[in-house]
Amino acid sequence: ALERTLSIIKPDAVSKNVIGEIYARFEKNGLSVVAAKMMQLSQEQAEGFYAEHKERPFFNDLVSFMTSGPVMVQALEGDNAIAKNRELMGATDPQKADAGTIRADYATSVDANAVHGSDAPESASREIAFFFEDSELCPRG
Ligand code: CMP
Repeated sequence: ALERTLSIIKPDAVSKNVIGEIYARFEKNGLSVVAAKMMQLSQEQAEGFYAEHKERPFFNDLVSFMTSGPVMVQALEGDNAIAKNRELMGATDPQKADAGTIRADYATSVDANAVHGSDAPESASREIAFFFEDSELCPRG
């Protein structure tokens, strides 16, 4: 089915200057950017985005990492976009990520793991709405 998913290129990957390399992987694998913005997340934004992890021991480190530099936020559209993006990203822990995935190639740790991607349709809707107005989404079909 045609789906949308929320993707974030995290501060480590932005700082490695690989936004374009990561976009190329999306585009070569049937995902199209339908909205995008580069931004420096505030602490409030990072805490709000990751609210579901508030009680996890890694929450403070996660928020501090995600506010350590600019991120590139995009909504991706394509057939099975949510699973496709997760396949392209690889496992959360880059040490466990399959060869050839974004995290295997660009990530260095569980925190500095290059990219975020929504894990389910409900989180995709919520996460896209967190960053984008409906009017900012440009359907590609
Ligand atoms: P992300 O997909 O952005 O969602 C939550 C993030 O928390 C995750 O990627 C990791 O970067 C980070 N994180 C840090 N420690 C852990 C952990 N032990 N388990 C899961 N996620 C973690």
